[in-house]
Amino acid sequence: MTDPSEEDLLHEVQELNEQIQELQSSLMQTQKLSSVGALASSTTHEFNNILTTVINYAKMGLRHKDEKTRVKAFEKILAAGQRASKITCGMLSYARQQGNRQEPTDVVQLVKSVMVLVEKDLQMNRIQWQTDYLGHPEANLNAGQIQQVLVNLVVNARQAMGERGQLFITVRSNLEENWAEVSVRDTGSGIPADKLRNIFKPFYTTKEADEQGQGGTGLGLALCKDIIDGHEGRIRVESAMGKGTTFTLKFPLLREIPQLENAEEIREAG
Ligand SMILES: Nc1ncnc2c1ncn2[C@@H]1O[C@H](COP(=O)(O)OP(=O)(O)OP(=O)(O)O)[C@@H](O)[C@H]1O
Ligand SMILES: [Mg+2]
Repeated sequence: MTDPSEEDLLHEVQELNEQIQELQSSLMQTQKLSSVGALASSTTHEFNNILTTVINYAKMGLRHKDEKTRVKAFEKILAAGQRASKITCGMLSYARQQGNRQEPTDVVQLVKSVMVLVEKDLQMNRIQWQTDYLGHPEANLNAGQIQQVLVNLVVNARQAMGERGQLFITVRSNLEENWAEVSVRDTGSGIPADKLRNIFKPFYTTKEADEQGQGGTGLGLALCKDIIDGHEGRIRVESAMGKGTTFTLKFPLLREIPQLENAEEIREAG
């Protein structure tokens, strides 16, 4: 027979563990919303641009009666509307996705969905970016969580660069060691060698919160590490002061997606 007090204790430990898990997942969700906040001002700008396009072409269509001009106006309005819808859909699905389920995921598509979220933010900060798809790996992922990791890495990179930096995102299949790899490299400030061990610790930050109280919680990389651990993956950092920083993510590779399955994508990448 178990000692009753021991049983009570076990019960209490179990309850505390459940509470920790709940807190962990609400922390993750809060951090995700804060990263949406970091992208909010660029999204607002983009919507303003889209609205200007829509208004100007609507005026043009009303002014000019000829068929050719009107068709052109409608085409421009349609394209602007489609772009707006792509951005809102991307943002909403990013903010809404919750849960821990992992499923076979096309890593290239995942990176592309992240670029839709961050490209305006990069453009506003005059950062040139380049994506290289050197492989087409599939891995068992929770898409929402890995998007969150990538958004955090890209926002960190942008913040480390100020204006006119360069960002390189590369997807690879490491067939020898069976990893799907994604690296995010920036030409920013770099991280001092003696600080590298701190950056994955919760609440370690070198940033002041901005006027909206956003940024500088020091939770971004700590959560990235938790998420990657939950995928039995790896997160590595290399940095050179004044030159830049590279974060590399590795996930157990499920398979390399054959070219024919996604011919259009491959053409685009090649
Ligand atoms: N790409 C990078 N280049 C230079 N320093 C970086 C880079 N990424 C992270 N760091 C350093 O690591 C620290 C911790 O990063 P982390 O994302 O955990 O928190 P944060 O960015 O400071 O705050 P939050 O993510 O909540 O806005 C940063 O404050 C910064 O000093
Ligand atoms: Mg951060």
